[in-house]
Amino acid sequence: MAEPFRIGIAGLGTVGGTLVRIVADDAAAISRRLGRPVEIAAVSARSRTKDRGVDISGFAWFDDPVELARSGDIALFVELMGGEDGPALAAITAALEAGTPVVTANKALLAAHGMQIARLAEAGGASLGFEAAVAGGIPVIKALREGLGSARIERVYGMMNGTCNYILSRMAIDAISFDDCLAEAQRLGYAEADPSFDIDGHDAAHKLAILTSLCFQSEISAGEIHVEGISGIDQADIRAAGDLGYVIKLLGIATRSDEGIEQRVHPTLIPTTSAIASVGGVLNAIALETNHVHELILAGPGAGGEATAASVLSDILDIARGNRVPPLGLPVAELAPYVRAPMRAHEGGYYIRLSVHDVPGALAAIATRMGEAGISLESVIQRPDLVAADTAGTSEARTVVLITHRTIEKSVRAALANIAADGHAAGEPRLIRIERF
Ligand SMILES: NC(=O)c1ccc[n+]([C@@H]2O[C@H](COP(=O)([O-])OP(=O)(O)OC[C@H]3O[C@@H](n4cnc5c(N)ncnc54)[C@H](OP(=O)(O)O)[C@@H]3O)[C@@H](O)[C@H]2O)c1
Repeated sequence: MAEPFRIGIAGLGTVGGTLVRIVADDAAAISRRLGRPVEIAAVSARSRTKDRGVDISGFAWFDDPVELARSGDIALFVELMGGEDGPALAAITAALEAGTPVVTANKALLAAHGMQIARLAEAGGASLGFEAAVAGGIPVIKALREGLGSARIERVYGMMNGTCNYILSRMAIDAISFDDCLAEAQRLGYAEADPSFDIDGHDAAHKLAILTSLCFQSEISAGEIHVEGISGIDQADIRAAGDLGYVIKLLGIATRSDEGIEQRVHPTLIPTTSAIASVGGVLNAIALETNHVHELILAGPGAGGEATAASVLSDILDIARGNRVPPLGLPVAELAPYVRAPMRAHEGGYYIRLSVHDVPGALAAIATRMGEAGISLESVIQRPDLVAADTAGTSEARTVVLITHRTIEKSVRAALANIAADGHAAGEPRLIRIERF
């Protein structure tokens, strides 16, 4: 049997602990595929004594993950601690500076420091695998770095956060409130005790930033993403959207145009007939619009120990085989500087939920303001049973839903400012962009 491929793992939590188990359970299959075994030489975590449900007694122990990363006894360093900076960044940096390949699932770190890490990997001639960082078990990084050849990608979009997809699917199917769905997701382990990172859209934004770079061969720019979360979505929105043939999803979308790159994460109405509409629950879906392959859709589990550890292992095997690919698909010097396309120029249809004072002429005045801004309306819904939670109990306010034809966001915002100035709106309007995939 050939020499084992020795790895060090820092982080033995949900993903790291599962990776230890899979490497042991699948040892024979791994050896067969690789031609040599993968051996865990050393590990690091905060607590040495915690029961992790896996036997770590045969591995060297490091209190300091940076020391493990520098160890000359490993051929690859796996970072599964998490955190944008701190020990994860220090350990990855130490490994790459020593010329040791790195595999990580850390999207937060890559979104913030991906360029620096990619430069270090290139300088040291070491590989950097991060399949697990985007959409957990879905091999989208491999598809982008290797599978699509010379295809030019024009747009990437999809559901990149399982917690949000679960909540929105459950709200639509079972007609329960956002708060109840969130509490249930926490009970089932689909949402963290502090869910803000997921439901405010930041987790999806990290993944989108990484995808955007790979899709458009541009530098990573997570700070240039327009981010809105799902906590403002009401049952009234879900029902009105459903009546009109749409579902609401939290989408990450990046588009390339002559003006630059637009990256956004926000709740979006998509037709129930679109290919990704039926991908519900905790699953993720990523769609790539390309010239040669047209539309490619990848769907599957976006998180969870098993799926994520499987992606980590897939990177480990690739690197052990000697498969060398630049971390971001191209040498860093060839990536284009990131140029942001203005969001206010975004073109599309819009869903607008207004809380309107119930006085004669209010609806006509609203329609006039829309017309003045050059916006034509596709549908107007005003039903007594459509009451948003924020206006429930206010007898003098009515919920009105407007669907616009294709227009630009600047015009919609101008019309809404005029409607507010006229005094017809009883609260903040809810604006949800529509995409017709
Ligand atoms: N969970 C998922 O479904 C999922 C999906 C995709 C990507 N990811 C990414 O995978 C990474 C790990 O996530 P996870 O869910 O496995 O996290 P987790 O369950 O919280 O585990 C984190 C591990 O890191 C260890 N750790 C933390 N700080 C450390 C330090 N200073 N020194 C040494 N060890 C330290 C912890 O040690 P103790 O156990 O001793 O406390 C723990 O074992 C994150 O970057 C996350 O974003 C996770």
